[in-house]
Amino acid sequence: MTALPATVNDRSVWDVWLSAYHMPVVTVADEVGTFKALSGRSLTSEELAAELGLNARALTIHLIVLAGLGFVERREGHWRATAEARRWLHPEAEAYFGGLLEGPRRSNPLHAQLLETLQTGDKATGHGSAAEEWERGEMSDELAERVTALMEAHSRAPARAVAMQPRFADVRSFMDVGGGSGIFSIELARAWPHLQTTVMDIAAVCRQAAKYAAAAGMTDRVATASVNMFTEEWPRQHDAHFFSNIFHDWSDKTCRLLAEKSFGSLPSGGTILLHEMLIDDDLCGPLTTASFSILMLLGTRGRQYTFGELRDFLEGAGFIDVQSEVTGGGYYSLVSARKP
Ligand SMILES: C[S@@+](CC[C@H](N)C(=O)[O-])C[C@H]1O[C@@H](n2cnc3c(N)ncnc32)[C@H](O)[C@@H]1O
Repeated sequence: MTALPATVNDRSVWDVWLSAYHMPVVTVADEVGTFKALSGRSLTSEELAAELGLNARALTIHLIVLAGLGFVERREGHWRATAEARRWLHPEAEAYFGGLLEGPRRSNPLHAQLLETLQTGDKATGHGSAAEEWERGEMSDELAERVTALMEAHSRAPARAVAMQPRFADVRSFMDVGGGSGIFSIELARAWPHLQTTVMDIAAVCRQAAKYAAAAGMTDRVATASVNMFTEEWPRQHDAHFFSNIFHDWSDKTCRLLAEKSFGSLPSGGTILLHEMLIDDDLCGPLTTASFSILMLLGTRGRQYTFGELRDFLEGAGFIDVQSEVTGGGYYSLVSARKP
């Protein structure tokens, strides 16, 4: 068994996990006519969505994956098919690959689910997720155990990288909003002996976090707070609020609400930290982050955001000094801001 180094490049496992969405995004684009519509001209997402009878928000999420794959490009807000797509994926091209897409189209259930997202702009029916429980703020212990174990697995390496950031020397009390298993709090408490941490989550998930903290021998440094982040008052005694993979679950409107709730319960000088994989400003990648956004589209109300979008949510709530830094060797960034 290999121990996890402090800063590790986990891109290989993220790349292979999320590569599952590449082919169905292409088969759906072939079916709805994206490559033909974008050959020889450039359209905005809204223009393309109107022409194909699709939802513009979902279509943009799909187009970012196609850009990451090299089949479309975006200039000055307009998308067009690349030479690669025109050669292989235009249905009237001499070397059209469409026949080869037939098998994956029929055999992969993600094809129908992704088509549904493009038509409705909403999550797909039949794609398992916990989003409805999260919206209600209630979950069975059995589902909480399963979902929390999944989050724990993908956040273990990123948590170690976050805990290495020197900024935590100045934090006294850290609240991990939607903290799941508490892996970020556990790693931070390990790295910074002065730090008190609290995992805030729905009650069933807090019960799981308490088990993880006990297994790590950190019960005295990692507390839990059962709070429905939408409907209940937030604890006010913490000087840093940390959100890992939280904003990506929710719509722009809900992200603004979360930023406002954080602002309202932080002291002056307090810090908000958003740990997310960021989409490039030009909306053309990175491919794995774009594919993560597809997973969010299928199962949540959210998507992966750009730094500019997150900055806008934070500044809209009153935060200042918004900054972004890459953490660890993977795809994550830490976006931070201060309450004046
Ligand atoms: C995508 S997981 C992220 C978990 C962890 N922060 C990580 O990055 O590994 C989203 C978390 O938000 C929590 N959550 C969702 N809805 C919530 C609500 N209404 N109130 C409090 N926490 C909520 C979930 O229980 C879950 O732990």
